[in-house]
Amino acid sequence: MLTLSIIKADTGGYVGHSAVHPEMVDEARRAVNGAKGELLVDGQVAWCGDDLSLIMTHDRGLESEPIHRFAWDLFMTTTGIAKRLGLYGAGQDLLSDAFAGNLRGLGPGYAEVEIEERPSETILCFLADKTEPGAWNLPLYRMFADAFNTAGLVIDPKMHDGFRFEVHDLREDKRIMIDCPAELYDLLLFIGSPSRYVVKRTISKTLGEVAAVTSTQRLSLMAGRYVGKDDPVMIVRCQSGLPAVGEALEPFAFPHTVAGCMRGSHHAPLMPVSISMAHPARFDGPPRVVCLGYQLKDGRLNGPRDMFDDHSFDEARRQCNQVMDYLRRHGPFEPHRLPLDEMEYTTMPSVGERLAGRWEATQATVPAEPQPVGAGTARDTE
Ligand code: F6R
Ligand code: MG
Ligand code: MG
Repeated sequence: MLTLSIIKADTGGYVGHSAVHPEMVDEARRAVNGAKGELLVDGQVAWCGDDLSLIMTHDRGLESEPIHRFAWDLFMTTTGIAKRLGLYGAGQDLLSDAFAGNLRGLGPGYAEVEIEERPSETILCFLADKTEPGAWNLPLYRMFADAFNTAGLVIDPKMHDGFRFEVHDLREDKRIMIDCPAELYDLLLFIGSPSRYVVKRTISKTLGEVAAVTSTQRLSLMAGRYVGKDDPVMIVRCQSGLPAVGEALEPFAFPHTVAGCMRGSHHAPLMPVSISMAHPARFDGPPRVVCLGYQLKDGRLNGPRDMFDDHSFDEARRQCNQVMDYLRRHGPFEPHRLPLDEMEYTTMPSVGERLAGRWEATQATVPAEPQPVGAGTARDTE
């Protein structure tokens, strides 16, 4: 069995929260190259916005101690570079001083899948910045449950029975398997609330194979306070009974609105971009998604192809800018700004406390003004 792991963290931004510094990328490449052939079968370094991703193949299984320790140590090193260069938010996603077995609860995000490599193993790695894991819900629904997106659900005999969705409740830390297409409407009831319910995995009912897996860590909940956005990653396996590459990319032609940009407290459309455009700048957004395509062979990552570097996504990018203009004009109003209970980054408790004594009950406490006898409006007397 081969394991594909994407492990990511924001260990410092350049400039502000917009990108990863080239020195950090170089250091990560040096470490990953050094680990190839020993710890790793293969590995590459990628980024989206201020998040550094390690894309690795190995035979150590899921949540493997040495793999997670390798990533943790590397993120500590890139944090050191960020500190030395005075980069912004150095070590932002590292919530603990010590590594303890695996990265669960420590801050870095990860998506991992264990596979029996197919003769031709087509893999897409999606990396997003300025959003949250639930941002994958809508595209995953389209890829694996919507016949208007994925022709294979109708005409490929290996896809016609559909897919199972593993959905996690991030608030209560529990999960459920939902069978599609039979339980489509049940699925939508949950995953339409992406701040709480996220698709963790999809599984082919015919092949019994994991088709997609996401990172579901939610930093704000883990730390009990706002510590930056839990920018997500996702692996999607494609072709031969799984969505075709084009079916997996198609959902991103609609730049759906996600939570995340500017202080982790605003809704904005998700822009599919090439790696060269993965540097959110306007209002710390709009949120970005890049897609790196690979063909695996004996664990070797042949690629990447920069999948959104394609004119067919120009229209999505244009629409995204239009939606951004529209939403920005709402300023601090919902639905651009997130609802109060979603904004861990807020002045509300202190302002609320300061003004607490000035709130009055709306009934009974405000005496009615006595009306002078015979008084009326101009209209009454006309
Ligand atoms: C969004 C994000 C940024 C920061 C913003 C303020 O996920 O990371 O929008 O929230 O730049 O950053 P601070 O509060 O660190 O000045
Ligand atoms: Mg950052
Ligand atoms: Mg980020």
